[in-house]
Amino acid sequence: MIIGWFFPEYNLRWAYGHYQYLYPSKPIAMTKPIEGFSKLTKAKKLDWITANYTDDPEAAKKVFKRYWNPDKTLQQLHDEFIENTLTNYYLPFGIAPNFFINDRLYAIPMAIEESSVVAAASKAAKFWLKRGGFKTTVLGTEKIGQVHFIYTGNPEKLRAFFEEIKPKLYSDTASITKNMIKRGGGITDIKLRDKTDTLERYYQLHCTFETLDAMGANFINSCLEQFVTTLKAGAQNFAAFTEHEKNIEVVMAILSNYVPNCLVRAEVSCPIDQLNVGGKISSEDFAQKMVRAVEIAKVEPHRAVTHNKGIMNGIDAVILATGNDFRAVEAGVHAFAAKDGSYTSLTHAEVRDSTFRFWIEVPLALGTVGGLTSLHPLVKLALEILGKPSAEELMQIVAVAGLAQNFAAVRSLVTTGIQEGHMKMHLLNILNQLGATDLEKNQLIEHFKKNVATHSAVVAAFEQLRKS
Ligand code: MEV
Repeated sequence: MIIGWFFPEYNLRWAYGHYQYLYPSKPIAMTKPIEGFSKLTKAKKLDWITANYTDDPEAAKKVFKRYWNPDKTLQQLHDEFIENTLTNYYLPFGIAPNFFINDRLYAIPMAIEESSVVAAASKAAKFWLKRGGFKTTVLGTEKIGQVHFIYTGNPEKLRAFFEEIKPKLYSDTASITKNMIKRGGGITDIKLRDKTDTLERYYQLHCTFETLDAMGANFINSCLEQFVTTLKAGAQNFAAFTEHEKNIEVVMAILSNYVPNCLVRAEVSCPIDQLNVGGKISSEDFAQKMVRAVEIAKVEPHRAVTHNKGIMNGIDAVILATGNDFRAVEAGVHAFAAKDGSYTSLTHAEVRDSTFRFWIEVPLALGTVGGLTSLHPLVKLALEILGKPSAEELMQIVAVAGLAQNFAAVRSLVTTGIQEGHMKMHLLNILNQLGATDLEKNQLIEHFKKNVATHSAVVAAFEQLRKS
């Protein structure tokens, strides 16, 4: 203890040791690192994980196995998507109908766990169905990839080398690009960028691509890796380089998920007098409040992040249902939201000439061929439900889902508050947690049509019902 007066950290450790002695936490599995886990059979993997990391191995195995698909072919398909698959992880797959987009009616598939998202999308779709629907435009489809390298030498010579090697960068990738070019895509440009003002001796090949209906990650990365080979070999033979300059140090070659020119716009608008949302609020007040809410999200990053999170509720759900890469989209979208130096709203709203307009511009690099799209039966079905869209069409549908979600969220926020709708949808989750029977669920759903549902109110009503 005395030592602790001089060394406060020692005091803390002493106290913690005693706390642990008095209140031991659950024993941490004293397991050793494992070699060759990926080579074990699924049964052996289950034995190992449950024996070493769960309280009740048999119960844990049962949970894992409950999610196995009895269709062996389907299970094998899922097993082979990733390494060390133990089971499947389900998400609800729902449909938000009545989306009228560019004069065509869509039912949009959504895969998401958050209770209110599909309901909110459907509500927004229905609202705009009666007001002309959604209008969308693809503003660009450019994808990007970069070769990052370090060059120590004369920048003029590097530029001359790049001009000489550029045609070879195209010709050496001909076997990779042949089919894409036939369909109208391919490498659209390769630029040498001097980045030495940001990092000493840092240069890059900044390359742009048109990948049509493919998301294009494999295509782009294959091209980039060939560029690396061509660049390094070419440097060795470039007469003007000194021995030192020939040794270009390639750090990496990879596509960029920041795609500000792979951009889509979705919009809704209507005369203000048609903007009646019910309740006590007038159309004019509602329009003004919507505009104000968006203005706040434009200037206040704390609000902008949550505002955009609501948009991503819609976007991610469609991205997941259609087998696209939501991490790539998330990363790119948020970078876009911060492109002018501070994080801001992805949506915009205005009232002009007695018309309310609400729109989004969002970068979305999506694919409707390749990847999971032809492998995952539910993804295939989702794309079929959407009318087998091209990547451009899917960009438009996804942007609409984001806009609709944002409209629904902000509409609730500026009128009733978000909890009313959320708790209605969350009610079943709480009742399931409480172990309510179907009969009890029905009775309580009826009860909360007329009463405010908070977590404690639901628990109290449930307990009351059980008592009676
Ligand atoms: C919740 O998932 C999403 C919202 O917070 C979005 C928003 O605040 O705009 C409701």
